Amino acid sequence: MPLDVEKIRKDFPILQQQVYGKPLVYLDNAATTQKPQVVIDKIAECYRTINSNIHRGVHYLSERSSEAYENSRTAVQKFINAKFPFEIIFTRGTTEAINLVAFSFGEKFIREGDEIIISAMEHHSNIVPWQMVCERKNAKLRIIPMNEEGELIVDELDRLISNRTKIIAVTHISNSLGTINPIKEIISKAHSHKIPVLIDGAQSLQHTKIDVQELDCDFYAFSGHKIYGPAGVGVLYGKEEWLNHIPPYQGGGDMIHNVTFEKTVYNKLPFKFEAGTANYIDAIGLATAIEYIQNIGIYDIAMQEHQLMQYAATKLSSIDGLKFYGTAKNKAGVISFLLQDIHPYDTGMILDKLGIAVRTGNHCTQPVMDWYKIPGTVRASFAFYNTLQEIDVLCDGLQKVKEMMG
Ligand code: ALA
Repeated sequence: MPLDVEKIRKDFPILQQQVYGKPLVYLDNAATTQKPQVVIDKIAECYRTINSNIHRGVHYLSERSSEAYENSRTAVQKFINAKFPFEIIFTRGTTEAINLVAFSFGEKFIREGDEIIISAMEHHSNIVPWQMVCERKNAKLRIIPMNEEGELIVDELDRLISNRTKIIAVTHISNSLGTINPIKEIISKAHSHKIPVLIDGAQSLQHTKIDVQELDCDFYAFSGHKIYGPAGVGVLYGKEEWLNHIPPYQGGGDMIHNVTFEKTVYNKLPFKFEAGTANYIDAIGLATAIEYIQNIGIYDIAMQEHQLMQYAATKLSSIDGLKFYGTAKNKAGVISFLLQDIHPYDTGMILDKLGIAVRTGNHCTQPVMDWYKIPGTVRASFAFYNTLQEIDVLCDGLQKVKEMMG
């Protein structure tokens, strides 16, 4: 059933405002999504009523906050259909989740001369942590190439995989091109060689149903703030067997079972990977965001966004001098483009004055921009609360940019 977008928009207070005297047109959802009132209220309510450090006190408040935090873990587990709640590790976000795997998996399994495969369209967060492992261990990074449309050439994996390949880390949906990668195919190819796969889900969970058991991925990382939840909290899903085999990422409170000066025994999962006081309030806020999305329905969200993407692609392609970057057959959430030879930053600045928020630049995917030999793109990224009228406003804005700069 089509979503009642006007009704939904009322759930998001920030969308009601004007900027520079114009209604806000927020098309920067790949950078971060806006928060529904229920999430904002939940966070305030937690601070008002149950705030207390988790897993540490026997008192009432600590029990309540620990319980709410663990319930959030279960909510995430169910949302992505992980087998066990302890396979859900709360992190600061996708970046920390990937760094955790790169460090801990790297420590245990990567040796000199080993290889790690990533793709040509990774976010810096799924490049740099692996480069750091490679530097530490004297290992090599190998890259799945992409074509002009911004699609991965997955067949190349057969050439790239060797008996030195220790892990493959790829994004599900490209944040700068919108390409939906065939991760099931990648996972099954990798598994036929007994190679584990990490999926960067920062741009996918908000657009499509994720079932980690069905995907059979070994690790899946995502951020709360990209799925209508708070910033500063994210999740690493890992299969129990891997999480049990790799060492902790950070040391501190909560991740220990027993500490003496001679030896520390680490805590069981998931606490082994959650050193220090967790961001428990935002984890609770994240569970509220998940509940909100589930009430709307992830399939209806996907349909609404598909309609927005189709409409935007058609309308934008009628603008003379506009060139798309990322024209994969399978796309979600993101349209990247350049207008004539106008610098993306200038386009973004003019759109901003018209109340339109888009992102400009390399979108933390500098190798993608280098591939196309461009400095960056203008990126419009959609959420289910966007409207077709907002896309019309974007198109009118781009005509204005042309008049001013062309
Ligand atoms: N990774 C975020 C983006 O694509 C910040 O904008």
